[in-house]
Amino acid sequence: MRDYGIEHWPETGTGIKFVRVEGLAPGNALSARETALYGAFRMEKRRKEWLAGRLAAKCLLSAAANEADQSRLDISYDQLGRPACAGRIVSISHSGGWAMAAIKEGTSFIGADLEKIEERHPAWYKDYFLPGELATPDPGEATRLWAIKEALLKALGLGLAADPLSIRAGGQKIILAGKALGRYSELGSPPFVVSTKPFPEGFWTAVAAAR
Ligand SMILES: CC(C)(COP(=O)(O)OP(=O)(O)OC[C@H]1O[C@@H](n2cnc3c(N)ncnc32)[C@H](O)[C@@H]1OP(=O)(O)O)[C@@H](O)C(=O)NCCC(=O)NCCS
Repeated sequence: MRDYGIEHWPETGTGIKFVRVEGLAPGNALSARETALYGAFRMEKRRKEWLAGRLAAKCLLSAAANEADQSRLDISYDQLGRPACAGRIVSISHSGGWAMAAIKEGTSFIGADLEKIEERHPAWYKDYFLPGELATPDPGEATRLWAIKEALLKALGLGLAADPLSIRAGGQKIILAGKALGRYSELGSPPFVVSTKPFPEGFWTAVAAAR
């Protein structure tokens, strides 16, 4: 098989691909529908991030489907808003000049999030973390927990349509409540595992996937 530069994260059984956002070109990777979308973005930053996420995802899909022609791997969204290609869910994230994608064979319960570690306003800690969830308002640990919440909200196909407070990511066990729990039940309550890595430097990446 070709070397696609894909990482394997054994804890979650996922394939992961990171790319730098700057300096990428679509080449022959986009379908006609995607090429039209790419040309329609008004904001350059958004267009570049979108492309980087697509190229990372197509790298994974290309390897998984053994399809060298990436333009045949059209990525749209499933009915929950999760990026999908021919029924296969792929999760996409971009932050601070990086983009990444994650995939897992045999499940649609997959979500990934990449977050730059930054100083945050005190209100951010108050609005997005439950009492006791964070021992101290530390930007590093808070970013890690935030990435877990977003990864899970993506696996659930909710994104920020659900309150991040509906997930308790701090502590020994991840606890879902409210809308997050409701969607999890609708999806059949699949047992899942979450993995986090301090990669790239200055970032946290979290991946949530069905076992
Ligand atoms: C998903 C979401 C939380 C990501 O926000 P973010 O941290 O700023 O951005 P990230 O770069 O980590 O992730 C963006 C990617 O998430 C993916 N995504 C978007 N909606 C998603 C969903 N419902 N489920 C899973 N993944 C989703 C997309 O692939 C998107 O990248 P793309 O637009 O380039 O394809 C946010 O975009 C969101 O909440 N979207 C849904 C909003 C919604 O459903 N609103 C309904 C009315 S309130």
